[in-house]
Amino acid sequence: MTPIDTNDKTAPHVLPPLPYAENALDPVISAKTIGFHHGKHHQRYVDTLNELVAGKDLAGLSLAKLVAETAGKPDHAAIFNNAAQTWNHTFYWHSLRPNGGGEPPAALKRLIEASFGTLDACKKELATAATTQFGSGWAWLVLDAGALKVVKTGNAETPLTRGVKPLLTIDVWEHAYYLDYQNRRPDYVNAVLDKLINWGFAADNLG
Ligand SMILES: [Fe+2]
Repeated sequence: MTPIDTNDKTAPHVLPPLPYAENALDPVISAKTIGFHHGKHHQRYVDTLNELVAGKDLAGLSLAKLVAETAGKPDHAAIFNNAAQTWNHTFYWHSLRPNGGGEPPAALKRLIEASFGTLDACKKELATAATTQFGSGWAWLVLDAGALKVVKTGNAETPLTRGVKPLLTIDVWEHAYYLDYQNRRPDYVNAVLDKLINWGFAADNLG
């Protein structure tokens, strides 16, 4: 199941399977971390979302539309948080792959070089966003009016609601790395960028 398939579904929302085995990202991210992160945290966002929308008109909206509809509305903050976290996590699983990193596909690499100068500069900007996001949140590579940009978002916030197209993301909530890296978020971020990041997924999202 692709993230886009998940986005089109209405309630009850379901936890999509991981696109790889729980231990496939080891040793960069351990099976224990993935098991808790996907099986407990991501599952909880899905379950809470279903509880919150049950019996409401919002239950008839797809996940992506639910995120758009509830963004910035204080009376729907809990639904937004759980819908966005459900969406963000599925996008994150696909942003990683075993034996990732390396060189992006040619079309994406050309855009990266046009936007950042070099691949290393792009990775450095992603690492800076991921390590300087204060508290919980996400670092993203996005397509904005034909150019690539790096943005960071706090808590459940997502660039989906900002008129840009997300290409890949790195989860920097502590639950993403604490069992493996404790307080060393930069080590987690740099290892992900060097060894797991899925440039092919980002290239597919260029559309
Ligand atoms: Fe997470």
